[in-house]
Amino acid sequence: MSRQRVAVLISGRGSNMAALIAAAKDQSYPAEIVLVLSNKADAGGLVTARDNGIATEIVDHTPFGKDRVAFDAAMQTKLETHCIDLVCLAGFMRLLSPGFVGLWQNRMLNIHPALLPAFKGLDTHRRALAAGAKMHGATVHFVVPEMDAGPIIMQGAVAVRPDDTEASLSARVLAVEHRIYPASLRLVAENRVAVVGDHCLIDGAPVPDPVALIPQQ
Ligand code: GAR
Repeated sequence: MSRQRVAVLISGRGSNMAALIAAAKDQSYPAEIVLVLSNKADAGGLVTARDNGIATEIVDHTPFGKDRVAFDAAMQTKLETHCIDLVCLAGFMRLLSPGFVGLWQNRMLNIHPALLPAFKGLDTHRRALAAGAKMHGATVHFVVPEMDAGPIIMQGAVAVRPDDTEASLSARVLAVEHRIYPASLRLVAENRVAVVGDHCLIDGAPVPDPVALIPQQ
């Protein structure tokens, strides 16, 4: 079976992008990372992508001002040029227009550093600590127009420790992110994920429990 062509969209350091690239180096992995696209020319992840011989594109959002539709259209042109099958948002910090999201329905994934639907938005680790959450984690989901929402493909959980700081908690969650994103993309690329209503089924079964999935450290 031919491998699915994936674009990873980043705005920053790109550690999740690097995890996807590493997984896709295995020729038996069902997806290949053929493009890294950033809205920021100085995104650290672009260097990693180039070092790995992956094509990069920059679509700077600033000339578009508030015109998200035009910015998204410019990105869509790049994605079409590179014949992209699946899009992975990996720390891509731009809201996307409903029209663009619709073009990629059930073909665009995002990773969020919280157990959605808890802690949408920014500063998730700080807010989880402030709320006294006992469990925290990360979620891979299909992108829908609403931010940090959409059918959940996979979650990974970590126990919050009494002495956790924002830095220690975010480091443990990031390690989980680096596991669940390549695993999720594999499932999607293998066409094993079906969206039924607001939920995903994996091989026809409900998404596994996040605690069962990630052994506790
Ligand atoms: C990751 O923790 C990702 O989950 C988060 O940004 C970070 C990017 O790190 N994404 C969001 O908050 C999106 N709502 P990375 O560039 O090293 O992958």
